[in-house]
Amino acid sequence: MPKRRASGAKRVALLHALAHIELNAIDLAWDIIARFTNEALPHAFYEDWVTVADEEAKHHGLLAERLASLGAAYGDLPAHDGLWQAAEATAHDLLARLAVVPLVLEARGLDVTPAMIAKCESAGETHNAEVLRVIYEDEIGHVAIGKRWFDFLCQRRGLEPVATWQTQVRCHFKGIVKPPFNTNARDAAGFPSSYYEGLSVP
Ligand SMILES: [Fe+2]
Ligand SMILES: [Fe+2]
Repeated sequence: MPKRRASGAKRVALLHALAHIELNAIDLAWDIIARFTNEALPHAFYEDWVTVADEEAKHHGLLAERLASLGAAYGDLPAHDGLWQAAEATAHDLLARLAVVPLVLEARGLDVTPAMIAKCESAGETHNAEVLRVIYEDEIGHVAIGKRWFDFLCQRRGLEPVATWQTQVRCHFKGIVKPPFNTNARDAAGFPSSYYEGLSVP
């Protein structure tokens, strides 16, 4: 019994941490829409990020349901503000925001989610695995949207995208971009290894 309770608490902690990330992701999607009014951006930019905001809200809702099924709720546990720190560090420039939030943080989500899905499956947590799979598929789209608009801005500013991304990440991201990378998912998002492999070498 105690063992079972401990693993339940562990699962609540994981779902709670993910629900917190998704709540921040909702705010970040609306922030990218509202903040960078100095850039003249096409309608499609706003449509893309409204789609992201909508999907992040769906993700938060799905995780909240999973927490409820375990007798827990979002807000029960403390949460870190790493994502919001990244938002603040990149609030000065849309190029920096796109380099760090979708192309470092959301791309990192693609790297780590398959192992989480596998763990849930092997523990017989079918519903949790299903929710994570929905999130994983949608997040490939979010990385793709980030990359599309990063490329758009590089082209507009006459910048070479690979070197520009690496410089932006070195300047505005405090953590390390580290392997193992999920190159299949990153490729599916149109984010090739030529960007991040050079950066991860010490
Ligand atoms: Fe999400
Ligand atoms: Fe996302």
